[in-house]
Amino acid sequence: MKKICPSILSADFSKLLDEIKEVESAGADMIHCDIMDGHFVPNISFGPSIVSTVNEITELPLDVHLMIDNPDKYIEEFRIAGADYISVHYENNIHLHSLVTKIKELGAKAGVVINPSTPANLLIDILEYIDFVLIMSVNPGFGGQKFIPGVIPKIKQLKTLIMARELDCQIEIDGGIDAGNIKDVSDVGADIFVCGASIFKAENIAQAVKDLKELIS
Ligand code: DX5
Ligand code: ZN
Repeated sequence: MKKICPSILSADFSKLLDEIKEVESAGADMIHCDIMDGHFVPNISFGPSIVSTVNEITELPLDVHLMIDNPDKYIEEFRIAGADYISVHYENNIHLHSLVTKIKELGAKAGVVINPSTPANLLIDILEYIDFVLIMSVNPGFGGQKFIPGVIPKIKQLKTLIMARELDCQIEIDGGIDAGNIKDVSDVGADIFVCGASIFKAENIAQAVKDLKELIS
């Protein structure tokens, strides 16, 4: 089943509890937590203590996207905080296999993220070891950016690679996903849809979740 994964980066943190409850009761499937360190990406977001708070608020699985240098130092802390899915970037991690092995040993689903300019075929050798690939459809660092349509062929390419080898690996898409493009992205093979601004900046958050879900069902 395809999944909607609201990104709390765009939430109103003064109403975080209410907004998470709202997306949960509207049918969201997971909660996306963007972790940024001001080094790998120019922005700084939040760390394990907020993830732990989110974990207390919701029953939904937490999807933790690590946009940080040296993620090996923090993976365990995020897992203890409640991360169910943990993804690390291809671009700043030369020991990907050992990182994803560690994530899986800690009992979480392991993912590898690629930036818009990183080719899909660089994932060929890691694909069989991971539970999901996260394809960035904006340059990581900020919510509310415009979707880069050039990533659509990359989703197709990855889907083909995964199907040809009958791998159990899902495709997640992150950046600029909204009601205008979610169906196109779904049609080419994405399984999990991260949505920040299109949900949390909407006039009616619950309705936005329902509309996005409807478009992929
Ligand atoms: C960007 C983050 C995204 C972001 C998505 O670096 O990885 O998860 O929150 O937000 P929207 O959907 O607004 O592009
Ligand atoms: Zn993200």
